[in-house]
Amino acid sequence: MRELENLLLSALEEEGPLVFLTGAGISAESGIPTFRGKEGFWTVGSKVYQPQEMATFAMFRAHPEEVWKWYVMRREMCLDAEPNPAHQALVKIEKRWGNRFRLITQNVDGLHIRAGNSPERTWRIHGDINFVRCVASCIPEVLPIPENTDDMHCRKCGDWLRPHVLWFDECYNEEWYRYESSIAAASESALLVVIGTSGATNLPMQVGMQVAERGACLIDINPEPNPFSELAQRCEKGTAISGKASESLPRIAEIILRS
Ligand code: OAD
Ligand code: ZN
Repeated sequence: MRELENLLLSALEEEGPLVFLTGAGISAESGIPTFRGKEGFWTVGSKVYQPQEMATFAMFRAHPEEVWKWYVMRREMCLDAEPNPAHQALVKIEKRWGNRFRLITQNVDGLHIRAGNSPERTWRIHGDINFVRCVASCIPEVLPIPENTDDMHCRKCGDWLRPHVLWFDECYNEEWYRYESSIAAASESALLVVIGTSGATNLPMQVGMQVAERGACLIDINPEPNPFSELAQRCEKGTAISGKASESLPRIAEIILRS
């Protein structure tokens, strides 16, 4: 506890953004299954697909109706869930630190925004399940998902609307997924707190490795060992907290709010 407090307080005294990077683990306690947990599969006909197969552009092109059914089901699960104390802790930290605060999230569930973090500072690097865009990009805008999800076609060009999420066979970019912004935040951060991610995707690992190489403060919160906990343990200014987000993040917020 003392070590954590010292690490946080000295990071706050330095210059640079305070970056919080979240994964599915932060929403697990709101009842949303994690990506690599057991509940994610989906059946099409007699075939069972893993999320890694469903969440691809190739699958959408082959079976758009099925992919939409899967997303509509997942979105309902997200809408039924409520933000938990870990989400709320991040809202308090943003209120306290304003412009210094950055939230990079892999979660598409919309819970950070519903909890009260600002859309501008919540970089949804894998998109947001509550939004759609035209698959043909006839209009560049990202739109709120229509209320009636029976007909998911673009009003303008008639092609499919697609979920505004990054699929496994697609690349990050700045316009939709804040790729460069995230790298820039990692290159100047005073603090990186990683919460509930298994480190299986590319951009979050780049962010973690860059912060570790710079020797900036790096804290991981996860009940399981993972690549970020290893990085954090190797850093002089790092620590890995083996625990649940809803318990550890409010403690961190409390220290940050006292400062
Ligand atoms: P994963 O499902 O891979 O990992 C969830 C992590 O949360 C694991 O490391 C768990 O140990 C941890 N965890 C579970 N319960 C927790 C709790 N109460 N508090 C804190 N941590 C907890 O999810 P992500 O790492 O988010 O990408 O997955 C990253 C990306 O891979 C997803 O955004 C998605 C997926 O494939 C795309 O769709 C592009
Ligand atoms: Zn269109």
